[in-house]
Amino acid sequence: MSRRSNQLDELLQDWLHANSLRKTEVQRQLRDAMDEHPDGGMQTSPEQVQFMGLMLKAMNAKQVIEVGVFTGYSALGMALALPKEGKLIACDISEPFMSQARVWWQKAGVDHLIEERIGPGADSLRALITEGHTGTFDFMYVDADKTGYPDYYELGLQLLRVGGIIAFDNMFRGGDVADETVTDENTVATRALASKLLHDHRIEYSLIPIGDGLGIGMKRDD
Ligand SMILES: C[S@@+](CC[C@H](N)C(=O)[O-])C[C@H]1O[C@@H](n2cnc3c(N)ncnc32)[C@H](O)[C@@H]1O
Repeated sequence: MSRRSNQLDELLQDWLHANSLRKTEVQRQLRDAMDEHPDGGMQTSPEQVQFMGLMLKAMNAKQVIEVGVFTGYSALGMALALPKEGKLIACDISEPFMSQARVWWQKAGVDHLIEERIGPGADSLRALITEGHTGTFDFMYVDADKTGYPDYYELGLQLLRVGGIIAFDNMFRGGDVADETVTDENTVATRALASKLLHDHRIEYSLIPIGDGLGIGMKRDD
């Protein structure tokens, strides 16, 4: 969640959008539609979605998971970066949000690449493990309930192949992670995750100041 890169001022943000984004017509329409949506601020920033699409192409990714779909903007961007045999498992607890997302995916002609899983994200990930998909995914994007991130991390590490990438949105919490006076449970959970990712030798790690902070872990071989 964060429609813009928080650390940029308005002028530079506008320049970045005007000079780097390559949105399709449907992406543009979905973006515009969310300007009017009461929860529109939950959308991932377009520069971050485009960056994740570039990562997917660089990795030749075919199997992707998203936890936290909302109305489908980040999933749409990732699906557009997949080859025709690719698959994106889209997980969200909200059926109404998933229904709205589906309309946009159909409009963009990528709905056949997307498999919907409605329910708590951790249950959907556990089901994928039970179904035999351990070690098969190239990329996982996590943009849902912050207190669920530790579970998504452990389950995601099982589902990713070696060299696969897990990306966590909202690692900055709009700057609150750095302000020790902020102690709500989501910010506390995000600080704990940041520390865990930094010290966890099962991954290569980087925290990118894009959108609201994107934590990226690549699963190591050992
Ligand atoms: C920030 S929005 C996702 C935005 C989306 N990635 C985009 O770019 O449009 C967070 C989503 O997480 C979903 N969510 C919240 N708790 C969840 C849970 N326990 N399991 C799965 N999804 C959850 C919400 O329904 C909401 O759609």
